Amino acid sequence: MAQQMTLAVLLGTTREQRQSIKAARYIESLASERENLEVIFVDPKDFNFPGDGNDPEGKDPRYSQIVEEADAFFVVTPEYNHSFPGSLKRMLDSELQLYNHKPIAFAGCSDGNWGGVRAVEALVPAVRETGLVVMSWDVYFPYVNKMFADDGAILSEHSERYQKNVNKLLDELLWFADMLKTARRDKGN
Ligand SMILES: Cc1cc2nc3c(=O)[nH]c(=O)nc-3n(C[C@H](O)[C@H](O)[C@H](O)COP(=O)(O)O)c2cc1C
Repeated sequence: MAQQMTLAVLLGTTREQRQSIKAARYIESLASERENLEVIFVDPKDFNFPGDGNDPEGKDPRYSQIVEEADAFFVVTPEYNHSFPGSLKRMLDSELQLYNHKPIAFAGCSDGNWGGVRAVEALVPAVRETGLVVMSWDVYFPYVNKMFADDGAILSEHSERYQKNVNKLLDELLWFADMLKTARRDKGN
C-alpha cells in the first residue's frame, strides 16, 4: 500500500447474542495483517447516540473522530426483518460530510442461507446519500452461527474461501481508499 491509511470496521448490531461480531472480528484480523493500515473496530455498544440526526446532540464525539480519521469503512451487518439494524442506521446518520469521497465495503450475516443480502442492499442507497463510495461486490456469511468456533476462529472448511474473498474485497476497498485519499488531499479536503 502506497501510504499510511486507517480502516474503520463497523459492526452493525448491539444485540446481546449477536453472531455477526465473529465475522466482523474475522475481517478485522485479516485487515490487521496489512502493512501501513491502522484498523479501528467500532462496536455500537461502546458509543452513545442520544437522538436522531446529525445535530451536535445526535453525535458521539468519539465516533466523529473515527469517521474523520478513517480513509475507508467496512460495515458488517446482520439482517433484521429484511433490512439492517436501527443501531447501525443511528450511528451512520450521526455524521455526513466526514464520509464524503471515502469508500465503503459491506459484509452481510444471517442464520439462514441468504447471508444478509437484503440488509446490504438496503444499505446501498442510505450510504450513497452520505457521499460514501460503494464497492461493486460484497462478502456474505450465511449460517454465520455455524461458521465460527466459540473462540471466534473460522472453521477450517470455510477458511480458504473466506480468506480469499475477504482479502479480495479488502484489496479493492484499499485501492479506492488510496486513490481517494490522494484525490481529497490534492483537492484540499
Ligand atoms: C429482530 C431480528 C430479525 C431478523 N430478521 C431476519 C431476516 O429478515 N432475515 C434473515 O435472514 N435473518 C433474520 N434474523 C436472524 C439473523 O440473521 C441472525 O440473528 C444472525 O445470527 C445474524 O444476526 P446477529 O448478529 O444478531 O446474530 C433476524 C434476527 C433478529 C434478532
